[in-house]
Amino acid sequence: MEPNSLAIFHSNDIYPTSADGTMPFKQATDILWLSGVDQEDSVLVISPDAKRNEDKELLFLTETNDLIAVWEGEKLTKKEAFEVSGIQTVYWLSEFDTIMKSLMSQTENVYLLTQEHLRRNTPVQTREMRLNAELKKIYPNHNYKRSAPFLNKLRAIKTALEIEVMKIAAEITAAGFNRVLKFLKPDCWEHEIEAEFIHEFVKRRSRGFAYSPIIGSGSNACVLHYLENNKQCISGDLILIDVGAEYANYACDVTRCFPVNGKFTDRQREVYESVLRVEKASIELLKPGAVLSEYHKQVGDLMTKELINLNLLSQEEVDNQNPSWPAYKKYFMHGTSHYLGLDVHDYGLWDGSPMEAGMVFTCEPGIYIPEEGIGIRIEDDILITSSGYINLTKEIPKEVSEIEAAMKTG
Ligand code: GLY
Ligand code: MN
Ligand code: MN
Repeated sequence: MEPNSLAIFHSNDIYPTSADGTMPFKQATDILWLSGVDQEDSVLVISPDAKRNEDKELLFLTETNDLIAVWEGEKLTKKEAFEVSGIQTVYWLSEFDTIMKSLMSQTENVYLLTQEHLRRNTPVQTREMRLNAELKKIYPNHNYKRSAPFLNKLRAIKTALEIEVMKIAAEITAAGFNRVLKFLKPDCWEHEIEAEFIHEFVKRRSRGFAYSPIIGSGSNACVLHYLENNKQCISGDLILIDVGAEYANYACDVTRCFPVNGKFTDRQREVYESVLRVEKASIELLKPGAVLSEYHKQVGDLMTKELINLNLLSQEEVDNQNPSWPAYKKYFMHGTSHYLGLDVHDYGLWDGSPMEAGMVFTCEPGIYIPEEGIGIRIEDDILITSSGYINLTKEIPKEVSEIEAAMKTG
């Protein structure tokens, strides 16, 4: 930060549903990443140039009381907050306004987190947005600056501990897929498969799905954000399963496609092998120095070749394609990779910066042919290392022979 600055980070609200209902609490990932505090109504203030040493890092938390303890259980004490965050100065939230008055009077620049995620698409105001707007109203003459660029950069590179936790999320996800390979049979229902996953995940100390699971059989697999998961699985169809476990707030994000009756048809196998070849070749492109925009172009070229071989595209269509919407997009209309971490579509650098060791990306090419009732995506989670990559989700079967063998013994 520039000299004479402070930065403020807020927790999420507990979002209301209706009547007196609420969603389960989900912490805002920035304050969590910076402090480890996984509790509502929390504020982190970082003020490196504050005059008093004890004002350089501050946490504000809800003061617990007997009533809260009876109804909601314990909240963090000041001592526990220090233990999770390493921050010495912990205040109760009731003191926030008074202490901010003092800090703001010593400060020129205020770094706030604005919602800058490229894919953010919701009109709902977060607690962070609300309290930042209030701060600007009370103190209109400070210089307000963006902390998002710092967080994008910092959170893009995972620490050893984050990688350890992501490996556990991958192990739990693998256990769920292995369970489902044995469970999947003609006439079972998509929601029954969802239930198998959640059972395995929660049993293994995950708090659940890292994102809404997509479990689509037959042509449902061609609906990219299919969330109903309420159809019966028919013999002869494939089923696409895009499911990942959360562990310690970190996400895993995996897609596999299985034949409902345990055996791929010739056509399903042909298309599946095309997607698998593209996925494997794309994973090999993920390494230090690679640039996402170039990588996405290379994957597009690999996919174009496969689609011509499958007779889904002609060479002529490719020769005459619109470069800003290449012909392959007709069958593969989403991106190949995104950053993965605390958020499923995690923070990262989309500005042409090269990949670095410690970044984690998904790799998830797909081919969707609604007129044939075939939708196939294969998705793994790839950690970039100094010498190449580690596939965190490689234990989850994806070879045709492995899938068919696992389903036979189910
Ligand atoms: N499951 C969300 C995604 O693959 O990006
Ligand atoms: Mn996914
Ligand atoms: Mn993904």
